Amino acid sequence: KKAVLAFSGGLDTSVILKWLQDAYQCEVVTFTADIGQGEEIEPARAKARQFGVKEIFIEDLRETFVRDYVFPMFRANTIYEGEYLLGTSIARPLIAKRQIEIARETGADAVSHGATGKGNDQVRFELGYYALQPDIHVIAPWREWDLTSREKLLAYAEKQGIPIEMKHHTGSPYSMDANLLHISYEGRALEDPAEAPEESMWRWTKSIETAADIPENIELEYERGDIVALNGKRLSPAETLARLNQIGSRHGIGRLDLVENRYVGMKSRGCYETPGGTIMLRAHRAIESITLDREVAHLKDDLMPRYAALIYNGYWWSPERKLLQTLIDESQVSVNGWVRLKLFKGNIIVIGRDSKTDSLFDSDIATFEDDEGAYNQADAAGFIKLNALRLRIAKKRLDRKSG
Ligand code: ARG
Ligand code: SIN
Repeated sequence: KKAVLAFSGGLDTSVILKWLQDAYQCEVVTFTADIGQGEEIEPARAKARQFGVKEIFIEDLRETFVRDYVFPMFRANTIYEGEYLLGTSIARPLIAKRQIEIARETGADAVSHGATGKGNDQVRFELGYYALQPDIHVIAPWREWDLTSREKLLAYAEKQGIPIEMKHHTGSPYSMDANLLHISYEGRALEDPAEAPEESMWRWTKSIETAADIPENIELEYERGDIVALNGKRLSPAETLARLNQIGSRHGIGRLDLVENRYVGMKSRGCYETPGGTIMLRAHRAIESITLDREVAHLKDDLMPRYAALIYNGYWWSPERKLLQTLIDESQVSVNGWVRLKLFKGNIIVIGRDSKTDSLFDSDIATFEDDEGAYNQADAAGFIKLNALRLRIAKKRLDRKSG
């Protein structure tokens, strides 16, 4: 028996690693990825070695993450329940995919993760595993072991000689998850949704009060719905998001405190910092505003909440998500051009947008001045009259009935 573990190198996944070796007597392969969480991943190698792990995978997946997951999701202007930019949700399918690939490479028959039995992440990992490898064996230690509290976990770590310095990973009073798109905080001090989070919780962004006192203008260039350049400089997807995070952070952009509905049925309070993503969402709508047909844009808006729920609930690898993606991607063929934004004290203000090749904005038609025959105002009378026909008929019936 051999299991591929999604291993961060922190205390929790170190305990899981040891526990897998003990409880399952299985050989463990570790997989550690840099998806922009802002922590060194190399130290995971030495930690895995300490536990006798022979096959250690350490990978920089930042570009893959942004190019193949974050950017496709932003083409749909995706937000869950009107607010959440899905920073954690969108990273799970990539981790699941790599775990399965590594399982194949190493001849492992099982995969394991550190998500609890109460959350969304377990669902996302495991739906991914099963979609990509139907007969895979899944081990979810949090649902199996009796380490049901922090104290029990620490006691186990102590007993197993898991280095105490690893404790600093859980030194934060929150359950956190970070990648290039966001950092999230849940649990502990946040468990009362009536209470505001402490200012010191926020790690990425400035508060509105301490944000830069001078506004900053930026220009984003789009090709097929994806950002390809910032202020005239071409950047890769991961570079783009990293730069937008820096810029957004100093202007206090992208903080969110919300109560969301988890797939398992409970409500959960979470705080998020998504500076670059928040800018991307606004800018993408701006470029679409001049390049997308109205009905195409509205259809995308109709489908978006379903697409968002698929990602939130863990169905990235489902046929219906792929089908929607094809539609979304096809809509982006004409989404080319640039957007200018002014960033100031938490605000993202669109101050300009244009597309040389794909604008549908026709100033000859839209003008409030003399349009010289481009648009015949008299046409509107019949347009309105026929659209009013059924309203008039309905009103007549109402009058008839009420005598
Ligand atoms: N509630 C968010 C989501 O479901 C964030 C989850 C954070 N995960 C974590 N392991 N801390 O996407
Ligand atoms: C977890 O339960 O492991 C984190 C929270 C979530 O997945 O929703």
